Amino acid sequence: MKIMGRDIKIFSGNANKKLAQKICDEIGVSLGDSNVTTFSDGEISVAFNETVRGADVFVIQPTCPPVNENLMELLIMIDALKRASAGRINAVIPYYGYARQDRKIKARDPITSKLIADLLSIAGADRIVTMDLHATQIQGYFDIPVDHLLGGPILAKDVVSRLNKDTVVVSPDIGGVRRARNFGSILDLPIAIIEKRRPKANVSEVMNIIGDVKDKDVVIVDDIIDTAGSMTRAAEVLKDFGAKDVYAACTHAVLSGPAIERLENSVIKKLIVTDTLPLSERKEIDKIESVSVSSLFGEAIKRIHENQSVSKLFD
Ligand code: R5P
Repeated sequence: MKIMGRDIKIFSGNANKKLAQKICDEIGVSLGDSNVTTFSDGEISVAFNETVRGADVFVIQPTCPPVNENLMELLIMIDALKRASAGRINAVIPYYGYARQDRKIKARDPITSKLIADLLSIAGADRIVTMDLHATQIQGYFDIPVDHLLGGPILAKDVVSRLNKDTVVVSPDIGGVRRARNFGSILDLPIAIIEKRRPKANVSEVMNIIGDVKDKDVVIVDDIIDTAGSMTRAAEVLKDFGAKDVYAACTHAVLSGPAIERLENSVIKKLIVTDTLPLSERKEIDKIESVSVSSLFGEAIKRIHENQSVSKLFD
């Protein structure tokens, strides 16, 4: 299919083919013909079975678990497209993994979010399209354009029907205050903040609450649920401080390790997530509902291809 005189082609790695197909359906194009397989020794093999010469190519691949596999698939696909003379290579990364190591906290720490940005550029990406980066300043780790979409409005639209007027939007940590404030302003609700300290990776310790949650329903908003430690502890402390029903909304449902068990046993009534990552059958529990980001990504891809404003999507 041609839009604006230049071919648009959309391909997917193996990370989230369902989302890639939905995005193609939104745009009205067929998913490009490619295969990503592995050699017997585990190395990744990529084949594009149609020409991409001169085309505006979008590769959809969240770098979710298995993160190293999915990342390498993406890098190798970009390399193949570059060598096949694609006109422009747009890496569509609905979930940008390795983002949480975004600064040196102690001596000799790596900064993986910058390393991945460098790898993508060196492989040949001309543009990144992503959603809810763990820290928005990661955009600056790239020297190519980054279109940063927001999941908040999609989650807020879904969650609003479940909430009453006396609900408080809660940030589970100081770093998420802006996200909670934006969410609160979409729904015209006040916010509260959980102040916590994290003694080591994937272990969180809730300390205190800034704001009033007593006798109110709450909705905790976060970018990522990984082991669900932060979210379930946040829910408990909110109950301790007198909150009534606890809802949660989160863009990227990584749900690794003990996450599902923790969520099942938690006081959280409903968790709304998006489909930036695929939810495996094992992770499909009644408490979790998923809303799709496909129409937003579809519209963004169309606009990027037609050189139209993407920020218009948030007006
Ligand atoms: C932390 O800064 C993030 O926003 C998430 O709260 C955190 O990464 C979630 O991890 P987990 O679910 O393992 O507590």
